[in-house]
Amino acid sequence: MTRRGPTSDRSSVPAGERYPLLLSPLEIRGRQLRNRIVSTPHATGWSRDGLIDQSEVDYHVRKAAGGCGLVMTFGSASVDPSTEASYGSIALWDERNEPALRVLADGVHAEGGLVMSQMTHMGRRGTSAISGIPLRAPSDIPEPVHMEVPVPLETWEIPEIVARFANVARRLERCGLDGAEVTSFGGHLIEQFFDPLINTRTDEYGGSFENRVRFAREVVSAVRSAVSESFIVGFRMASDQCLTGGLGPDEMIEVAKSIAATGAVDLFSVSGGSGASRLATGYFVPPDALPEGVYNERATRFRREVGVPTLVSVMAGVGPPDGDLRRGGRCARAGGLRRERDGRHRGVPALDRALVGQGRGVDRVRRAGGHPRAG
Ligand SMILES: Cc1cc2nc3c(=O)[nH]c(=O)nc-3n(C[C@H](O)[C@H](O)[C@H](O)COP(=O)(O)O)c2cc1C
Repeated sequence: MTRRGPTSDRSSVPAGERYPLLLSPLEIRGRQLRNRIVSTPHATGWSRDGLIDQSEVDYHVRKAAGGCGLVMTFGSASVDPSTEASYGSIALWDERNEPALRVLADGVHAEGGLVMSQMTHMGRRGTSAISGIPLRAPSDIPEPVHMEVPVPLETWEIPEIVARFANVARRLERCGLDGAEVTSFGGHLIEQFFDPLINTRTDEYGGSFENRVRFAREVVSAVRSAVSESFIVGFRMASDQCLTGGLGPDEMIEVAKSIAATGAVDLFSVSGGSGASRLATGYFVPPDALPEGVYNERATRFRREVGVPTLVSVMAGVGPPDGDLRRGGRCARAGGLRRERDGRHRGVPALDRALVGQGRGVDRVRRAGGHPRAG
């Protein structure tokens, strides 16, 4: 049997030296992320009637207990009764969720993590056959996945939806969360406004580029105005819709720059794909057939050009926690966590499936000194 030399005894090397970037803290709006390990939001499907289930609270607290720096919760959580809390997701517009939100915030903080919630309006995504609520969208063009013709929003209705986002952000802060993530990702309402093939409006929310990003800009600005200086406002979007004839990296960077120019967004979360077609949906949750860190190149460019700290969905996939953190570390090094020319590093890798059911995995790797190639 070959004896391992002292240099290969990884457990003796402090984790901070093994993962100098991954485990380094990051300050956003005066709030300290203890490390760069972030779990991205996903819909668990555990809510009933849009109400947060205790199992979901426990699930997110476990991730913090396992060492996650920032736990992003409640994928596709709804800000407005006009967009169904579909597939068991959360109705954040419903004040009955406040007690559970408080328990969640307290629980994650007690474990040393920060917690943010995603918030969205799904627009033409979904089906009224289940909810009984007609779909609302920029125009009456159905999504090829759900195939239902939505009812176009009247111009006067749009500021009401903007206000709904702001109200929910206020609620999240009141309940003790550290931030809110507005999302267009996955072909939700905000992305539907961006896309000229979907948004055929002739009012001030359609037509020119400025008009198509107006809704997003109004949402993030209203959210920023509704919360305190120390509350984190995030924005999640695709770096590329991965859609034939859709919005590619160049267009998405312009969209992001326009949103960033509002000064409202502290943190972008960048991935790829869209719910706007079955094929693009495959890029939204990439299968193993796609390479690791499939969006890293785009996200790196995005971060450099947009100039705001950027979470990169590293696409670490599913598997044993230490294996996936290794993959996460590789992807992070390749794309998300390189130092800038000024010596600082602002990228934050984001893991989703790697942390499902593996809440303690981060801590295990941290305590063990980690893997020499990660970070
Ligand atoms: C079941 C499932 C549901 C998801 N729901 C959402 C969602 O509601 N909102 C969102 O932004 N991302 C959602 N995602 C995407 C993940 O946040 C993440 O970007 C994706 O899984 C790729 O990262 P990974 O390879 O680390 O898992 C979902 C992913 C899965 C697997």
